[in-house]
Amino acid sequence: MLASSSISDTVGRGVSGQKSIDVIVKGWFVTALTGQWAFAIYILSVYVTPWFSNIDIGEVTPTQGYHTANSFDYAMFFAHIIPAAYLSLFGAMQLVPSLRKKYPSLHRWNGRIFFTLGISGALTGLYLQWGAGLRLSDIGALGITLNGILIPIAIFFAWKHAINRRMQDHMRWAIHSFILVNAVWSFRLYLMGWYMINQGPLGNSPTVDGPTDIALSFACYLLPMLFAEVYFWLKKQKDTKRLWVGATFLLTGALITLIGVVAATMMMWFPRIAQVAGLIQ
Ligand code: HEM
Repeated sequence: MLASSSISDTVGRGVSGQKSIDVIVKGWFVTALTGQWAFAIYILSVYVTPWFSNIDIGEVTPTQGYHTANSFDYAMFFAHIIPAAYLSLFGAMQLVPSLRKKYPSLHRWNGRIFFTLGISGALTGLYLQWGAGLRLSDIGALGITLNGILIPIAIFFAWKHAINRRMQDHMRWAIHSFILVNAVWSFRLYLMGWYMINQGPLGNSPTVDGPTDIALSFACYLLPMLFAEVYFWLKKQKDTKRLWVGATFLLTGALITLIGVVAATMMMWFPRIAQVAGLIQ
């Protein structure tokens, strides 16, 4: 009797461990979506609204070297940033299970667009960094360069598994693709979150090659990829202790995203959006 009640207790705690993980993941999703849309509004405000008003993009963009770029580099720059708005507005939709089930063809088409724009974003980004020279420092650019190389690789596997109908593998690679494509967004979250917590720079430099800058330029995709792997592993676990330790770890990740979204929106995106709005009036 005692044994059977303790087994049911353990199973119960295991189930509530899984439930807590679901709640944390849902909380993370809502936070991330808010941050993705804030980033999209920023991109549209700074790089699209000037086309319909008399604002000079050079006045509002933080991109160094924008003023001195030649016409080919301009074309590459816009081919790089305009799709970024689509990725940020509609990319996260791919992660919603109910949308995948109800609208499979929307999932397929949005996925194809996401993958195509993700690969082109990586290639144009690599060109901008190393061809057009839009980088603040060589060493500070390495983390995002590796990110640009990993994006097409992850997308290749995600796409291949989808075509071959290996849905578990597809999902795993698609989530890593999503994380990699959004690494430049996460980088802004981590950097601004770090500035907010420390009330200023610590290990950062104006050329983004301080020790913290370099660490964050790799962490912006390696850390979320680790969180994703832990999540996949936890889905298969029944042991209560493991589930709760894992849930705590995932909660830390969700809190990092929350801090980052608040910090990047307040310190990076909102001031530029307000600046554009002020110039339009
Ligand atoms: C595919 C995912 C990517 C997205 C969604 C994305 C998004 C953006 C956005 C929105 C900007 C404008 C910067 C701003 O106003 O704050 C930008 C600029 C830039 N991106 Fe990307 N990017 C991606 C990948 C990459 C990669 C992989 C690289 C390099 C390997 C890269 C290199 C650059 C460079 C050099 C600039 C101009 C300089 C700067 O403002 O930092 N991007 N990107």
